[in-house]
Order: sequence, then C-alpha cells, then structure tokens
Amino acid sequence: MPATNVVVPGIQDLEEIIVSESMIKRRVRKLGEEIAAAYPDEEITVVAIINGALLFAADLLREIRRPIRLDCIRVSSYRNETRSAGKPEIVHSLTIDIANRHVLLIDDILDTGKTLSVVVKLIKKLNPASVKTCVLLDKKGRREVDFEADFVGFPIPDQFVVGYGLDFAERYRNLPCVGVLKPHLQNPPEWR
Ligand code: IMP
Ligand code: MG
Repeated sequence: MPATNVVVPGIQDLEEIIVSESMIKRRVRKLGEEIAAAYPDEEITVVAIINGALLFAADLLREIRRPIRLDCIRVSSYRNETRSAGKPEIVHSLTIDIANRHVLLIDDILDTGKTLSVVVKLIKKLNPASVKTCVLLDKKGRREVDFEADFVGFPIPDQFVVGYGLDFAERYRNLPCVGVLKPHLQNPPEWR
C-alpha cells in the first residue's frame, strides 16, 4: 500500500491516543451484543445526538441485531471551546413519534451530564415505553449533574479529546481513534 494511504491526516496533531481504532472496534461489537440482550423482543427507537454521535452510532447500529428505527437530534453546547458553554439547547428536535416506544439515546461522550439530562427530560415528556442511554466515552470526574449512562464504551480521564466523532471546532471527527490534541492546538484563535 502506498504510504499516503497509511498516514491518517490529522493524527499528527494528537499528543496521545487514549482509545485506539482496534479497541473501539472490539468494544463497539460487545456493546451491540449487550444492547441486543437488554431488548430481547423489542424494536428499538434509536435517537442519536449529532454531530458527535454520528460515527459511533453508525458503527454501533450495525452491531445491534434487533429491528431499529433511527432519528437524530441536534444539541448545541460546546462552541469551539474546550469547556462547556452554558445550558445545552435543542437546535433540531425529533421527527418521528416515540410514544410507547423503547428509546435508546446515543451520544459520543458524557461529560458534565447536562446534555443527556436535558435530552432525557425532553424524551420522557413524549411518553416512551422506556429510555436508556449509551455513550462511547464517560468522563466521570467532570459530572455537574447527577447522571449515569446505561451503556458505556470507555471511562476516560478528564482530558479534552477528539476523534471518532468528537471534534474541536468541527475538526478531527474523522479520526479512527480518540486522542488528546497537542496543547498548542487547543486554542488557535483563527479557528473560531
Ligand atoms: P455534557 O453536556 O457536558 O455532558 O457534554 C456533552 C457534550 O459535550 C458531548 O456531546 C460533546 O459534544 C461535548 N464534549 C464533552 N467533552 C468533550 C471532549 O472531550 N471532546 C469533544 N467534545 C466534548
Ligand atoms: Mg456532542
């Protein structure tokens, strides 16, 4: 294979890889089995929070051997900053009916817990049969509201990470692994 196909653009901006591509693949397969086992006979209505959950949800859905309906919602919380900017807002809400359905909410990362608790509240108002949550990453040490996910890919330390759907200023989402940006790249004003 030519060298240009081997080097992943953007990967040189990482200081450290926290979760490798092969770790993600293995864990996503296992999570799919865990989720299928939790819904033995039911159709699952998956609600993915975009953009962050896009890559994770795309891979995970193919590993959940159950009938699935899919919808996406868009929530804004981080504005080109590495720290949360106030209260999350729902920018684009659901487009399918979730009353009496088993809802599985998917996000990329559980950090302060504000995003998922706001979204779970919204979903519960629509009278689903059940609501469960699944995140790829869990920064337990950063919680500001009391919230735990039902399915967690990897607990990680309190570091700002990018890759596999997670971004900094909408960049790095296409990295196949999750890692920490080099410090001098965490605040370039020209990216705002
Ligand atoms: P929370 O509301 O603080 O739990 O944050 C959840 C959202 O913040 C996630 O959906 C991500 O979009 C974003 N976020 C939190 N931590 C990180 C990170 O380390 N890298 C990239 N995005 C993050
Ligand atoms: Mg997000």
